[in-house]
Amino acid sequence: MGPLTQLLLAGLLLLSSALCARAAAISHGGVSSMMSGCNVKGVANFSTFLLDRPSGMLYLGARDAIVAVNTANLSNCLKIEWSVPEDRRKSCVAKGKTEVDCNNYIRLLEFLGDGRIYACGTYAFDPQCAFVNISTFSLETSEDNSVRMETGKGKCPFEPSQHYTAVMAGGILYTAATSNFLGTLFDISRATGIEQERIRTERSINWLSDPEFVSSAFIQEDEKNNPTGEDDKIYFFFTEVAKEYDFYTKVKVPRVARVCKSDIGGMKTLQRRWTTFLKAQLVCEDRASGQRFNVLTDVFTKQHQQGDPSTTHFYGIFTSQWEREEMSAVCVYSLEEISKAMDGPFKELKKSCENWMNPEQVPLPRPGKCLNNALKAEGFESSLKLPDKVLTFMRDHPLMENSVVSVPLLIRSGVTYTKLAVTLTTVSNGNTRQNATVLHLGTDRGELHRVAVVGQNATLLQELTMFPATEPVNNILLNKGEVIVGSPKSLKKLLAEGCSVYTTCEECARARTLGCVWRQKEGACDLAVTEPGEGMEPEDSTSQCGSGEDQCSPATTELRVVEGLRVLLSCVQVAPRPCHWQYPPQRHARRHHSHLEVLVTPESLGTYFCVCEEAGRNQPPCRRAAYHLTLEEPVTGSNTGQMGSRQFVVGYLLIFFLGFLFACCLIYVIRWRRTKRGGGHSSSISEKGRDLLPSSDTPQSPSSASLLSEAVPFTEKRNGTLNGHGGHGGHMGGHNCTHIYANSSGLKLQESEELDGRERAGPEGEEEGLGEGLSEMGDGLGGIEEELAKLQVLRGAPLAQCEESSI
Ligand SMILES: *[C@@H]1O[C@H](CO)[C@@H](O)[C@H](O)[C@H]1NC(C)=O
Ligand SMILES: *[C@@H]1O[C@H](CO)[C@@H](O)[C@H](O)[C@H]1NC(C)=O
Ligand SMILES: *[C@@H]1O[C@H](CO)[C@@H](O)[C@H](O)[C@H]1NC(C)=O
Ligand SMILES: *[C@@H]1O[C@H](CO)[C@@H](O)[C@H](O)[C@H]1NC(C)=O
Ligand SMILES: *[C@@H]1O[C@H](CO)[C@@H](O)[C@H](O)[C@H]1NC(C)=O
Repeated sequence: MGPLTQLLLAGLLLLSSALCARAAAISHGGVSSMMSGCNVKGVANFSTFLLDRPSGMLYLGARDAIVAVNTANLSNCLKIEWSVPEDRRKSCVAKGKTEVDCNNYIRLLEFLGDGRIYACGTYAFDPQCAFVNISTFSLETSEDNSVRMETGKGKCPFEPSQHYTAVMAGGILYTAATSNFLGTLFDISRATGIEQERIRTERSINWLSDPEFVSSAFIQEDEKNNPTGEDDKIYFFFTEVAKEYDFYTKVKVPRVARVCKSDIGGMKTLQRRWTTFLKAQLVCEDRASGQRFNVLTDVFTKQHQQGDPSTTHFYGIFTSQWEREEMSAVCVYSLEEISKAMDGPFKELKKSCENWMNPEQVPLPRPGKCLNNALKAEGFESSLKLPDKVLTFMRDHPLMENSVVSVPLLIRSGVTYTKLAVTLTTVSNGNTRQNATVLHLGTDRGELHRVAVVGQNATLLQELTMFPATEPVNNILLNKGEVIVGSPKSLKKLLAEGCSVYTTCEECARARTLGCVWRQKEGACDLAVTEPGEGMEPEDSTSQCGSGEDQCSPATTELRVVEGLRVLLSCVQVAPRPCHWQYPPQRHARRHHSHLEVLVTPESLGTYFCVCEEAGRNQPPCRRAAYHLTLEEPVTGSNTGQMGSRQFVVGYLLIFFLGFLFACCLIYVIRWRRTKRGGGHSSSISEKGRDLLPSSDTPQSPSSASLLSEAVPFTEKRNGTLNGHGGHGGHMGGHNCTHIYANSSGLKLQESEELDGRERAGPEGEEEGLGEGLSEMGDGLGGIEEELAKLQVLRGAPLAQCEESSI
């Protein structure tokens, strides 16, 4: 054994003890696990959430089933089956659809307000709706005992994976969906209620152009404070293909559209069409870099002041059409700003060269305006009374000139966010009170991230593994201080608010912007007490675990590697601004969040820097990690490099194993003693940031810390997934450690020709152990993208400048 191996041995001992400490810490408490206790085995493709807040029952739409879960105890649940008869399924397959898609995917669940739920499913590409009796939790049947159904066209998409949104307003359903089998027609419509009032958008690309619907919100006026008799409004959020630019590529734009609740269409012009459909562009742009995020993927609606609808804000997740690497941003828009854009000038879409110069006069009453007391007094009691010239103008000018502009609260590269929810709190800093926002963000790899935004400052607080990496988060719901997170296969809940959410010193240190402090004695994160006398004891100071994050000149970690080895270079992102890697030009590097995975080849040797932008606008970028990769000298006596690496691997494994055994026992004993003293505050979730920092449980030398950061993230993550998945709790010692051992060595030393970021990110090893096949939604999403890509290729050609009325 050379000096290198000895060094490795020392490092690995420390590494393994850290791992075991973590394993012990994450194996119990915190997260209520998925619906394993409830008998919904075989039910998958969960998509829709509907929560009955008073009773705490959560209704879930899935494939061929509707499930009711008690949010107080997720293992308490009921199921209704609603599937497609065999003949319908066969005729669906005959039309060229896949067997899997020819099921009944429940995409819509809404309360009807009379003790029933309206449920709509794709029903083998023939959407149908049915009624659920809540008290008996069963589908209503007709006389002949068959399920009572009505058509779901325009209420529910045909395809299980199509983008879609719906909202209930005053017992009437408003939807944004595709309305034909081919998925080529798009409508925003009033889908239920009196037949004559079921109106929709005009089928013009001026109105909707290849939209991907994202979200919708019903904003009701304050009944007690509405002197002008303003109408209630429904907002729709989507991404569409811009028609206002004359680019030769298809430029996507995020939009918000608005319709009024009392709109019932025009008399002659715009018959059975919206007379109030107005839309505006949303801009989510980072001024510092000039980067625009133009694809909207989710919106969360939040009233900033309870009971005052005018304080509504919309938080949106954006990605970019142009970026090659994954990027996500969060922008927020106020209702006020949107209203201002809707009251502003109209965009001239018929770009004849002539009316560029002389825009059309805007007629009165203002096109697209919702009816109010004043308009009613002028004789416009209904949209049927509006003059033709107003309606013609509205039909030709659905787009507003002014955009609604926002600066990202958060930008991250290497992450794709899928869903978000927002909680608001106030923080007292001495005698000033500040508003703080906590973003709960779900990723496409089954994680939940938390970010605090206080004033201009945003801090990344936590990254929790909720599900296997193949299960994207597709629902996040806030209820009674808890956050319920769903994927197509699983459901979990955890605490949403308060300092106790942050279970380690590092997390707690980051949450100090929310007023949290770490109490070393109790080993818990707590709200800072500012009264004199009870003030912070010296040992409460957060610097002891948080300081490492603030330095921007890390020592370069020397890594001796062999060809074919895959290493994960870790980098901890603290601020909400993106991190970038600088490294030798090569093909074999892949991002995993802020970390970089490198397959060692001759061209990948050299120096690697991770540079993160800082929160303050004018602060210089901070170098958060530095690595230097050099080739391990071939072991003497072995004739080929191949042989050398084999031996290296074997030695490594052996040392690793021994190190583990030793460290596990050590930690087991320590933990056991500690638990006996009653200090067991921990969570069953893996937190990456924490993993990468030197553990406060384990004293470490700088050199071991670097080894730790080289090897930990991958294994930890997988381990977190494993343990976070429920069922493995309880026993703290060797049991978990063996798992880590198997996973980490298997992964770390894997030799491979090709890197595949997505695939590798998945915890392949554990999957069988967990039972279920896990790769659905990933494929599903890929499918959507493909479909959309195809559609877009088929659609119209770009416009030439000043082309008359071509749109
Ligand atoms: C949750 O429900 C299950 C099954 O009904 C029951 O065994 C368990 O004790 C309940 N847990 C709690 C915390 O109420
Ligand atoms: C639900 O079913 C029960 C029992 O059949 C019936 O009495 C009740 O009226 C039904 N509720 C509704 C809203 O239809
Ligand atoms: C905090 O939020 C409240 C309610 O939205 C608002 O009235 C107040 O101005 C905000 N305070 C600060 C400091 O932003
Ligand atoms: C934001 O961060 C800067 C630097 O870290 C700090 O000086 C400032 O007080 C913070 N502002 C708020 C509102 O927390
Ligand atoms: C539904 O789940 C199955 C397997 O569980 C998967 O193959 C399929 O792609 C999923 N469909 C959708 C629309 O998510």
